[in-house]
Amino acid sequence: MEEPSGAAPAAVPAEAVTPLIRGVAVLHRLTEAGGALSPSALERATGLARSTIDRITATLARMGYVRLDGRDVVLAPRLMELGNAYLAALRLPALLAGRADALADALDESVSLAVADRDGIRFIHQATRRRAMSLSFRIGDLLPAERTAPGALFATEWTEAEWRRRRERRAADPEDRGFPAVPPRPPLAPDDFEERTARAARENCATDDQLIEPGLIALSVPVRGPGARPAPRAGAGAVRGPEAGREPEAGRKPGAGQEPGARQEPEAGQVPEARQAPGAGRIVCVASVVSHTSRHTAEHLRTTLLPRLRETVAAMERDLAAAPPPAPSEPPAGLATWTAASKQELGREFVESLARGLTVLTAFDADRPALTLAEVAKATGLPRATARRVLITYEHLGLVAAGPDRRFTLTPRVLSLGFPPLSRTSLPRIAQPHLEYLAARVHESASLAVLTPSGDEIQYTARAAAGRIMSVDLTVGTRLPAHATALGRALTGALTEDGYALVDEELEEGLRAVAVPVRDRSGRPVAAANVALHAARRTREECVTELLPALRRTAAAIEADYHVAARFTRVALV
Ligand code: PHB
Repeated sequence: MEEPSGAAPAAVPAEAVTPLIRGVAVLHRLTEAGGALSPSALERATGLARSTIDRITATLARMGYVRLDGRDVVLAPRLMELGNAYLAALRLPALLAGRADALADALDESVSLAVADRDGIRFIHQATRRRAMSLSFRIGDLLPAERTAPGALFATEWTEAEWRRRRERRAADPEDRGFPAVPPRPPLAPDDFEERTARAARENCATDDQLIEPGLIALSVPVRGPGARPAPRAGAGAVRGPEAGREPEAGRKPGAGQEPGARQEPEAGQVPEARQAPGAGRIVCVASVVSHTSRHTAEHLRTTLLPRLRETVAAMERDLAAAPPPAPSEPPAGLATWTAASKQELGREFVESLARGLTVLTAFDADRPALTLAEVAKATGLPRATARRVLITYEHLGLVAAGPDRRFTLTPRVLSLGFPPLSRTSLPRIAQPHLEYLAARVHESASLAVLTPSGDEIQYTARAAAGRIMSVDLTVGTRLPAHATALGRALTGALTEDGYALVDEELEEGLRAVAVPVRDRSGRPVAAANVALHAARRTREECVTELLPALRRTAAAIEADYHVAARFTRVALV
């Protein structure tokens, strides 16, 4: 469940858009299930009627957010545009991911960036190593704060209300079932989170010594926003006994419930909170080095790697301070006006209020991180009253937060809409359903290939057979000379003026193939897609007139998905 809070759920506001709440619930259940569920499983998981599930999934399919794959409803890469909107508006991945990746390369260990999400942490970047002995989390995964190193750092800034939220959540969910990304909490696990938080406040770093599972260790340092660091909240994390459960002020009173040895006075470079801009010097995210007990102990990780991690974080903080504010650009207009035509076409099967509501999230971006109601209405083309109800619904669901100056921002929880399962994808997996659709349409086999590192050969990475007895039979992994194949020519730029390659019986007698490149966001060809057939079945001209248009549409669809998926995650090409 994506609502791990033990607190009673807030009442649904009268103006909330019910179909949007239901659509979000369907996306949450699909995400928790790893990306696919049958309609009947969705019925059980949401408690919604089958007819409602069918209309919601038809609407999500029309948006390109799910595929209906045989019996299953499957999350589709396009859905990542919602999480992308949050990550772009947050700006931290764009500003800091390069340094996280460089540190991972230098240390040969995984490095992650996480933000606070209520009393949990959520990953916004992962620079992972491929190792047999390593569990790594995905972008968007939510973990309980107390079972992580970043959590102890975020908790140094918690108010008493946040400590209370954590206590209530743990009481209501003793096994951490609300956090599907982690193994269940062992029944007798000691809760020393307040001590670890106090230590994190003193040391400005934290370790995770197998809090999540045996073997997994981590070392974390907070990345602070520009401005002087606020004085640590006195006693935060060390609030015990008589202080626990009091109103927010109690936890903030200087000296109240302070741990022995905790700072009494602000250190150099710190200023009392009252005298600085709101939010100055606060933790914006936490950088972690993640390793395994087969390579380090937690203490060893700290003694050997802490200086390097601190250096990287200092550089990240300099980058944040130097980053120019987002340059406002001409906002989009009418993002949601497409829904009317779909409603006309699909009628009852299309839930227009769900499609309009989800489109609102895509109005946010790097240059539009915070929007007023009027700006949301303009960007989407929705009537102001509709946009208002959508925002009320999202606030209720915790996906949008209303800030000062009446601007709305997306919350980290937007990543719970499909991002974790979709973020571990590859180009062949993205391409597969598109190749299958093409092969079924043209009754010929379709493939995807990449160039091998030498550049002399191509390697097949995905394939959809036409189902003919006499279809061209090449399996994934097969290598062929690049120069002799249409795929190789499409990859090396040996294209016709019209941007395709057609090879006739060069490789093998009787074989004919037409191919086009698949490009990354910068226009560089990273793969090629083809249709291959026995020469007797179609002339060269027929290949161009009958197959090429469909092949181009397929390549464009693969590219569109790839560009969405690769905006904030590394998408493997093989
Ligand atoms: C991570 O996978 O990036 C990770 C895991 C546990 C932590 C910190 C980071 O405590």
